[in-house]
Amino acid sequence: MRRPVIAGNWKMHMTCAQAREFMGAFLPLVADTPNDRDLVLAPPFTAISTMARLCEDSSVALASQNVHWEREGAFTGEISPSMLQEHDVNYTIVGHSEPRKYFSESDEQINNRALSSQANGFIPIVCVGESDEQRERGEAERVIRRQIEQGLEGLDADQLVVAYEPIWAIGTGKTCEATEANRICGLIRSWVGSPDLVIQYGGSVKPGNIDELMAMSDIDGVLVGGASLKPDSFARIANYQTV
Ligand code: PGA
Repeated sequence: MRRPVIAGNWKMHMTCAQAREFMGAFLPLVADTPNDRDLVLAPPFTAISTMARLCEDSSVALASQNVHWEREGAFTGEISPSMLQEHDVNYTIVGHSEPRKYFSESDEQINNRALSSQANGFIPIVCVGESDEQRERGEAERVIRRQIEQGLEGLDADQLVVAYEPIWAIGTGKTCEATEANRICGLIRSWVGSPDLVIQYGGSVKPGNIDELMAMSDIDGVLVGGASLKPDSFARIANYQTV
């Protein structure tokens, strides 16, 4: 039985004060959320300690937006697994299209981050997805398959979440059709060969499309950017209903 994971990625948003304000409004809105799903928020590093305290005794788990493969060392700007362990972080986001694009993250680096996550007790959320041009050229499946083969090498599929995030749908307001997102998630599951693998969809998820996405057979959750910044919209997403 695959347990849905509803995750919000705050990216480079939210000071500690803003995070406190968000949680003050958000937690009451998810107090009665059914216990059949996991709720996750990925704050910026500076708000992780504040968020760890705010999430105590709540149903919300924490994700880091990155993790390095070494436990310490000369890696300016990186975050180590031991630093995250101090703050009760459960998940890490790796392979997001933004570091892939802006910092030329390779599948090998992404694989190292994901392996390090599992070795240190975190569940990596490994993001994959094609660009607009790749989709138009008919290369979407080949690109995603390569990202899966290289990025997931050596990982334990039972301690893993994969997020299918078509790049053209991220932050653009253009959601991938639910049936097409479902088709790709099904392909990913067959390539990985693990029926229990949890696979999210991400890219312009909002209150207006969450119920349709979550009703799909192969979509086991969502990774949400913009709509996770407002307590009411992320609470509506967390409280999705499929009937
Ligand atoms: P978006 O971002 O929901 O703002 O499209 C999704 C993501 O980057 O994971």
